[in-house]
Amino acid sequence: MTKTLLLLSSLLSVFSAVLAKPVGEISKLYDDRSTASQAGSCFPAIGFKMPSSVPTSLDNWWCDPATEYAFLGFSYEVTACQEADQLKKEFADIRNRFNGRYVRLYGACDKKGFYDDIVNAAWDSGLGVHALIWFGFDGDDLWKGRRDTILAALHKNPKAKFVTRGLQFGSEPLFDWVLDPEELTEQVISAKKNLSSVHIPVTVSEMAYGYQEHGGAQDVLDAIDFVDIHMLPFFAQDASTAKAAWPIVKRDLDWFIKRSNGKKLYFDENGWPSITYEGVEPNSPDAVADVNNERDYYTLLDQHCSDLKAVPGGGVGWFAHIYSDDQEPGYGIYNNGGQLKFAFAPRTSC
Ligand SMILES: *[C@@H]1O[C@H](CO)[C@@H](O)[C@H](O)[C@H]1NC(C)=O
Repeated sequence: MTKTLLLLSSLLSVFSAVLAKPVGEISKLYDDRSTASQAGSCFPAIGFKMPSSVPTSLDNWWCDPATEYAFLGFSYEVTACQEADQLKKEFADIRNRFNGRYVRLYGACDKKGFYDDIVNAAWDSGLGVHALIWFGFDGDDLWKGRRDTILAALHKNPKAKFVTRGLQFGSEPLFDWVLDPEELTEQVISAKKNLSSVHIPVTVSEMAYGYQEHGGAQDVLDAIDFVDIHMLPFFAQDASTAKAAWPIVKRDLDWFIKRSNGKKLYFDENGWPSITYEGVEPNSPDAVADVNNERDYYTLLDQHCSDLKAVPGGGVGWFAHIYSDDQEPGYGIYNNGGQLKFAFAPRTSC
């Protein structure tokens, strides 16, 4: 059975349970589901204890995405091909210092066996992974080899399906005009088929504008299992400060809510830069890039925790883009010297 069918049947069972129960028990049903992830009895809930050996099945393994929202973890660029030790140390930092539950990969490392290092670091630290087929910015075909490598690794590594929460086509294959919506839809469907036996859902990592410039690309939105949204309001034509960015966030979010039919939504590439430079330039004369605005953007998301929680699909879960300035200048939570640029302790529930 595919993940979608599993999801569907679990939804159906909730609905039928809801229909059969008196009103007082309906809220209890939902409480039970979210208590499961809060009590740490599913992966990768905060407080979950990793088993000493790899489980024999995925039954009751993953937390229900409908209970996962608020801060989830970091975007993490792998272009540096970090050594296994560094991956372990930094994934543990994401988990333990920031209460991260997931890491979303960004960029590409084409070193043989690299995804196995990611899987081991994720397993050891108790983090889930949004894996990525990196398209780059050059419009070349390298992504095809990367796709085949990661698909093979997801089948071959026995731990991979226990830590990989999704596979993304990205970044921004529509915005960069690498594939037209029809071709991208075919790729998504074929990856879903490939991964159905390991129950790993598939998505595209893209901003609203990427879909919009292709007439909405509804076929892509229909094909993906969940939606990985790039939310980068600094680049909006009406951007000013991060504190004033909620209407911009809401505008893109509403666009997706209207077209994604209740699917789970994530802000997977999500942040506000502290500096501008070539390639990171605003489209509004009033947009401010500095460390205070970088911080204020995450504060804004915390302040809207309940609004984000109320979004269909069980609420928006968001990633901070990006772990360190070493990975992408200006977006890091850490600076190049490994120090926090500002106090960062976002809410993981509300
Ligand atoms: C999935 O794709 C990979 C890479 O092309 C291939 O090695 C593997 O056999 C495929 N598995 C299935 C079940 O289709």
